[in-house]
Amino acid sequence: MQYSTILGIESSCDDTAAAVWQNGKILANIVATQKIHEQYGGVIPELASRAHQSHVIPVVDQALRKAQLNLNQLDAIAVTLGPGLMGSLHVGVNFAKGLAMAAQLPLVGVNHLNAHLASVFIEHPKPQFPLLCLLVSGGHTQIILAENHTQFKVVGHTIDDAAGEAFDKAAKLLGLPYPGGPLIDYWAKQGNSQAFAFPYAKVADLNYSFSGLKTSFLYFLREELKSNPEFIQQRLPDICASYQFHVVDYLLRKLVVAIKQFGPRSIALSGGVSANSTLRNELTKLGEKFHLPVLIPSFEYCTDNAAMIAVAGHYMLENGELMQWDALPFAR
Ligand code: KG4
Ligand code: ZN
Repeated sequence: MQYSTILGIESSCDDTAAAVWQNGKILANIVATQKIHEQYGGVIPELASRAHQSHVIPVVDQALRKAQLNLNQLDAIAVTLGPGLMGSLHVGVNFAKGLAMAAQLPLVGVNHLNAHLASVFIEHPKPQFPLLCLLVSGGHTQIILAENHTQFKVVGHTIDDAAGEAFDKAAKLLGLPYPGGPLIDYWAKQGNSQAFAFPYAKVADLNYSFSGLKTSFLYFLREELKSNPEFIQQRLPDICASYQFHVVDYLLRKLVVAIKQFGPRSIALSGGVSANSTLRNELTKLGEKFHLPVLIPSFEYCTDNAAMIAVAGHYMLENGELMQWDALPFAR
């Protein structure tokens, strides 16, 4: 059976998304971002589930309209099964089950983290394998080794906070609004990345830790503010540039170890933090140094989206990996 047209649905965190994949092309990629969480400085799970409930039908409808398709023209539905927020996942999975049942379509349940890696295949369908991917977002930090389009192995991960959280928490301490990652990037452009130094967390193997960095950053600010209450206002660009340099350097140091260990034939970047200008530049330099192609998806495919769910679903369907009707979402 050829599954040439797939509807993807994603609801694992705070974005409700739907997309249509057809024969290697994304015909629609719709994301409804939940603004409600901004005032709380982080995602509130209960509010996220409720917002998914009101967004899911209009978002799927919009994706089908954009793709100029109706339900009868679909061959399958791919939906995020986990990991993510339990209540949020249930909304997407139950909706997908109902729709698939009504339209008599097969379902495929996708792992959200695998889908972040699969986002690389949207614009690079035939990368050189093995491919080593650094996945960095507000919820995840992993180094993943892909042997082919469906066989992935997590070879390194954070043991506490994600890289995006490290940016967001530092931004909060600086008085910047949530999510602060893009603002740190903005201010860093005018600053000196060598002005201040931060300690490197020592974690075994290819794993990361970011929670200690938050504490050192807090103590660093407290100490400086004691002698100069205007420290943040006066030195914001230098603080942001130094902090950003530190996070990126830490991420890439481990990636270099992984490159040496696994000898990949290409490297990739995915997740919302891939928007970071220093990370993009430094990874590109790393690719040149190791003579490896560097694959970075367009930003709309890096942040949480359903195009990556549809494309991951496509490769799973090629392997005949269908989802059972009684399959349940999983949080971790
Ligand atoms: O993948 P994503 O959109 O969603 C979730 O993980 O939910 O990632 C969002 C994260 C946030 O932590 C945000 O601060 C971070 O990506 N981010 C950035 C930049 N743009 C987004 N971090 C650093 N520099 C950026 N330019
Ligand atoms: Zn994600």
